[in-house]
Amino acid sequence: MLLDVLVLAAGKGTRMRSELPKVLHVLAGKPLLAHVFNSVEALDGAAINVIVGHGKEQIQKTFAGQRFNWIEQTSQLGTAHAVQQAIPHLREGAKVLIVYGDVPLIKNATLKKMIAGVNDDAMALLTVDLENPRGYGRILRNQAGDVTGIIEQKDAAPEQLKITEVNTGVMAMTAVDLKTWLPKINNNNAQKEYYLTDVIGLARAAGREINTYAPEAVEEVEGVNSRAQLVTLERYYQQQIANKLLDSGVTVIDPSRFDSRGELNTGTDVVIDINCIFEGTNHIGSGVVIGPNCVIKDATIGDNVTIKANTVIEGPVTLGDDVQVGPFARLRPHTALGQGAKVGNFVETKKADIGPGSKISHLSYVGDAKLGSDVNVGAGTITCNYDGVNKHLTEIDDGAFIGSNTSLVAPVVVGKNATVGAGSTINRNVPDESLAIARGKQRVVDTWKRPEKN
Ligand code: UD1
Ligand code: CA
Repeated sequence: MLLDVLVLAAGKGTRMRSELPKVLHVLAGKPLLAHVFNSVEALDGAAINVIVGHGKEQIQKTFAGQRFNWIEQTSQLGTAHAVQQAIPHLREGAKVLIVYGDVPLIKNATLKKMIAGVNDDAMALLTVDLENPRGYGRILRNQAGDVTGIIEQKDAAPEQLKITEVNTGVMAMTAVDLKTWLPKINNNNAQKEYYLTDVIGLARAAGREINTYAPEAVEEVEGVNSRAQLVTLERYYQQQIANKLLDSGVTVIDPSRFDSRGELNTGTDVVIDINCIFEGTNHIGSGVVIGPNCVIKDATIGDNVTIKANTVIEGPVTLGDDVQVGPFARLRPHTALGQGAKVGNFVETKKADIGPGSKISHLSYVGDAKLGSDVNVGAGTITCNYDGVNKHLTEIDDGAFIGSNTSLVAPVVVGKNATVGAGSTINRNVPDESLAIARGKQRVVDTWKRPEKN
């Protein structure tokens, strides 16, 4: 089956009060339009046409390299006029699905049901019952309950305004039917616009059946016209993710203070404390405890890992089983911690491969480094990895002990079970099993007198 999807996204979005085109505003880390694309891309046989006008260049740039067909609507004369621009692009024998670019949470399953209901005799319309239907097009039905048309708010008679079933804007029909009735639409209405909704009345009058479908939840069809609506939908979306996690064995301590902005997979018996933000793709094992105020991006986390408060992880980062991180740790890209390793407070790591059981407990920078197993890095240790032009590697072999406040001037190797005295600046390799100490010798002046005030 061929399916031509039309995504209407030419409108201005005045009420956002923004330089950014409305459909590029972000929900759960992704532009609104990306959510719509995700939902329609998975439909069988779909070719995706996007009708753009306001902010066209910026929108196209955002989705550069993706296979969408961009169609320009130079002036916004109404939804029917927007669809008209796509008519030359419709494929022979296709079904057509129309969705809005500013309705981000529309579900693939809902669209699938509608498309399945389209045939040569029938069109599909997504409607919803609203307590407060103000502003929406109302669904008109006859005595038998059949849909006979849609009347817009501004054109409706007082009796019609009482109707609570509204048009969500999503509809589907054969390309043949769309091409038959679209050209017959005029703009003799209160807004002097070409209303796509008039297709429904025209098709019905010619004998087409109009079947209506309902979304799973009303939020699925809610549009974003203002920032207030944007954040309301964001919270709804986050609550949905939190609910799924709760069902799958994860305690999200407060779903109203939880944010997932990407893909989050977890094992069971995971606890996520308040104000954590998950970005990109995160895989989290079982028995993991994440403290409050953590930002975690692109991490692969093993089982029984503890991440304490205020830790920031910027992946790709891999944490083995039983690892402990934080509080106040910052793990930057290409950090890997082996099983049972520990990174404590005010430690920054980057491109650091840290072996099993190794510990960097306090106040250190470890970058461009390879640490074996059971290495102990004392407080205030710095890998001096950068000579101003190039980055160099620091290697610390199994069982080595680095005293506090050591500078390791890379490239440098500290051998197996070697010891470095506190306060050393190490710029030559330290052999296995040896002690290296590189600091000024202590002098004691026993006749010393402090100066006095005169
Ligand atoms: C439309 C429907 C109304 C429905 C409501 C649901 C019509 C005439 N009315 O009204 O029945 O209840 O949606 O939200 O269709 N757009 C373009 N080009 C245009 C005009 C609009 O691309 O020339 C796009 C907008 O960017 C938006 C969508 O179409 O994404 C809907 O347009 P909007 O002006 O918001 O329609 P409503 O007046 O809300
Ligand atoms: Ca609207």
